[in-house]
Amino acid sequence: MGIFSEKRSNINVIYTFYDVILLPGKSEVEPKEVDLKTKVSRNYYINIPFVSSPMDTVTGSELAIALARQGGIGILHRNCSAEEQVEMAKRVKRAESTIIRDVIVIKPDITVSEAVSIMKRHNIHGLPVVDDKERLVGIVTWRDVRYSNPNLHVKDVMTPKEKLIVASEEITIDEAKKLMQKHKIEKLPIVDSDWKLKGLMTIKDLELRGKYPLASRDEEGRLLVGAAISPYDLSRAIKLDKYVDILVIDVAHFHNTRAINAAKKLVKKVSSDVIVGNLGTKEAVLDVLSSIENVAGLRIGIGSGSICTTGLVTKVAAPTFFATLNAAEALEELGCTDDIPIIADGGIKNSGDAAVALAAGASAVMMGNVFAATKESPGRIIVIEGKYYKEYYGMGSARARSKRMALDRYSRPSKDIEEGIEGWVPYRGTVEEVVKELVAGLQATLGYVGARNIRELWSKGRFGVITHLGSQEIRPHNIYIPSKT
Ligand code: XMP
Repeated sequence: MGIFSEKRSNINVIYTFYDVILLPGKSEVEPKEVDLKTKVSRNYYINIPFVSSPMDTVTGSELAIALARQGGIGILHRNCSAEEQVEMAKRVKRAESTIIRDVIVIKPDITVSEAVSIMKRHNIHGLPVVDDKERLVGIVTWRDVRYSNPNLHVKDVMTPKEKLIVASEEITIDEAKKLMQKHKIEKLPIVDSDWKLKGLMTIKDLELRGKYPLASRDEEGRLLVGAAISPYDLSRAIKLDKYVDILVIDVAHFHNTRAINAAKKLVKKVSSDVIVGNLGTKEAVLDVLSSIENVAGLRIGIGSGSICTTGLVTKVAAPTFFATLNAAEALEELGCTDDIPIIADGGIKNSGDAAVALAAGASAVMMGNVFAATKESPGRIIVIEGKYYKEYYGMGSARARSKRMALDRYSRPSKDIEEGIEGWVPYRGTVEEVVKELVAGLQATLGYVGARNIRELWSKGRFGVITHLGSQEIRPHNIYIPSKT
């Protein structure tokens, strides 16, 4: 067969979220019983399958905190300096923890005025006082220093060791809460048998735990967070590695020898889970997994993003639904479906698209547009003709590239071509409100399909291709809807 006759006979039909529907199946599952817990990378689970895109109008620390509290995970954008990105990661990690490990401490012989300025600088109202061997000797609070002579020493005004309520590392969260309530204290120092300070528990952190029972947390009780990196910037990866759980290699076309070789080296130098992408075909997944050891996850889909012009400009795309099925097939062939999760990325507009991506083999979905529209995304809210919008632009847009920080997401020649657009998305409310709606929608889908969890959705979710006319029938039609304005 000649090149062209082969080409002619092998033209692929590429299905997208717009083309397919899920078929209902026999069900014994009530939507409320559906469990959406899922693997987001080799070593981390999240309670809802939602990941936010690393884009500077989507994921800063505020959105990452809000999403992790709801049970998902945010991937911090890299359109800033490494130091700024590290600062965002630190903010997420500091937002809450069971035991604070990097406790700010003072020495007993500094002055009250020095203690006041440390409290003000760090915006905290209580400081453990330790001796030269890091052993706890007292606690000084805002109340102790507020009206004291500024020239006195901390040891003169602090609550001394003998009067302190402390606990050891073995204390449970419930015991700690009870102890703090009983003694009406807000901070509980954790010490070892030698009174060496091992950490600090605060009532605020423990209450947040109760408030967000589904939150994604690390073993210290801090919120999980990921960060986008370039495969070519090892120094940024190493700086972030200390503070994040997951690093996401963030290039538009990862199936590229240079990117793969760089990532191969990088993976060996960091301890975080490394997710790679974006990938769009089965061959790409097979190539990448045979070249790089310890890949912790795959970011799948090219050209489906709501702000992408890649498909338009280059005519190259691997739409997210098609790409996810292909990647899932590759993982099945390699027998690593359970180890390496797929994150379907781009074009997910609602819970229906998310359900389709999950049924195609994804473990989680990444969304930019949906999260850009929330209160916690970094963009500004603006009012256009009485309606609220938030700013959203592609990382390949002129606007994102003008910051000149994440330029290597797109290939060299395309640095002069815009692969994204900028605009506004209708404001949708807080992350909590948006996530609740998505979760309810997904649970309903799994109820219809008869799947108790995402694993069962993989086996029970069957697809149908719907015609263009048919897609009009399965949405509201033949009805007059009065405009809300
Ligand atoms: P959604 O549909 O959720 O897609 O807005 C977000 C995903 O789109 C990708 N992305 C881009 N793709 N040009 C592209 O071709 C761009 O400028 C661009 N910016 C982001 C990215 O994968 C993101 O997660």
